[in-house]
Amino acid sequence: MTKLDDLCAFLSIPSVSAEPQHAKDVEYCADFLVEKLSSLGFSATKHLTEIHPIVVARSPRVEGKPTVLIYGHYDVMPVDPIDEWESPPFTPTIRGGRIYARGASDDKGEIMAHILGAQELIEEDGALPLNVIYLLEGEEERGSYSLHDYLKKPGVLEELACDIIVVSDTGMAAPEVPSFSYGLKGLCCFELEVSGPAMDLHSGIFGGAVANPITTLCEMIATTHDAQRRITIEGFYDGVCEIADWEKDSWRRVPGMSNAELAQLTGVPELQTEQGYSGAECVYARPTFELNGISGGYEGEGSKTVIPTKALAKMSCRLVPGQDPVDIMNKVEAHFRKVCPAGVRMKFTKQHAGDAYMSDPHSPLGKAAQRALELTFGNPPVLVREGGSIPIVAELSKRLGKDALFLGLDLPDARIHSPNENMRLDIFEKGITMAKTLLRLMSDVAP
Ligand code: BES
Ligand code: MN
Ligand code: MN
Repeated sequence: MTKLDDLCAFLSIPSVSAEPQHAKDVEYCADFLVEKLSSLGFSATKHLTEIHPIVVARSPRVEGKPTVLIYGHYDVMPVDPIDEWESPPFTPTIRGGRIYARGASDDKGEIMAHILGAQELIEEDGALPLNVIYLLEGEEERGSYSLHDYLKKPGVLEELACDIIVVSDTGMAAPEVPSFSYGLKGLCCFELEVSGPAMDLHSGIFGGAVANPITTLCEMIATTHDAQRRITIEGFYDGVCEIADWEKDSWRRVPGMSNAELAQLTGVPELQTEQGYSGAECVYARPTFELNGISGGYEGEGSKTVIPTKALAKMSCRLVPGQDPVDIMNKVEAHFRKVCPAGVRMKFTKQHAGDAYMSDPHSPLGKAAQRALELTFGNPPVLVREGGSIPIVAELSKRLGKDALFLGLDLPDARIHSPNENMRLDIFEKGITMAKTLLRLMSDVAP
């Protein structure tokens, strides 16, 4: 098996965690990892949970050396819209120096790079120079419920005890410019349903006399931001820490993150940011309130003159250190109750949540990680925070009492969560080298 074969085998397993029909595939994917890691001499176990298994694998004990816990997720997002894939999502296909498949970047490519990095080190030196634990879960894309529970089980924190958490599930700025991230956003997801008439109404017979739930929902949503694009929900910004000057300075130099480049990459005519902040600052460090989906009424061909019974909006907030996701959901609900007019009823449903996270990028192990990135990619990494979320990381770091460092390989054009997800093969190769170098350098840091 070549390294590319290993990656292809991994990418061929449709481990979609959200869809019940793929439960067996998710479990098979865990078996695949257990087998691969066992073949490298790790003691690897598949822990069954109420939803999807957790894989924990540890290398043979090396006394007096640090322990690195490498976190990643082997589950992937659903593939829809399937028609927009140029090759089937679970038939890994190479085109133009990239491998296309669901999970190629998020997160199987990154996990496999870290596993193969250890493999190369074992092949070259006969053994790993330090202690490595892989913690690989199958539910990240749906909220990491089982890993939350697992961390509370007796003995688990002892099993996972480490000196540093390395997370391989984030982005990199550009192919030649690695990113070293020291922050993640928090997240909370919720739904607002607005209902009115008991049945769909003829909009001529009743129009103008009853509130239209879609109109009302839109009006309510429109009260969440002001003209400066600030969020108007009372107390939303309480506790939010301001961006440090060194961060603003560093972020101005991140390739691809100028306002013009962000507009180009996303295909918008121009950016629309919170007043007073650049696009990069908004993405990395300002909390946001997003509509993710809105539905209601007639959505078929042609027209249909109705006042629908209800309308639904799916929403989420990205949060920064200092904000508590549950507290934010309570504030959002209170806001909607305040602005909800008497002519409709509203139902607010809280969904999953996770805390924001920030670590110190300048610790000795953090420095070793930055060196590994620089040695591999030929340029020092840019220091950034991530706009994305990995909800379990704050919890994992708190319970284990150790910092998490993020060394990501997802390029901005990797299309994660989208059709034609891909990873550049040269980045995959460098990812293997980076993982190997990281373990070598970290083995020299006193635990
Ligand atoms: N790997 C991503 C998060 C990510 C991607 C962070 C790129 C930084 C850069 C992760 O798998 C993800 O998609 N997280 C979700 C949260 C989850 C609960 C659905 C997210 O951020 O939306
Ligand atoms: Mn991911
Ligand atoms: Mn993801």
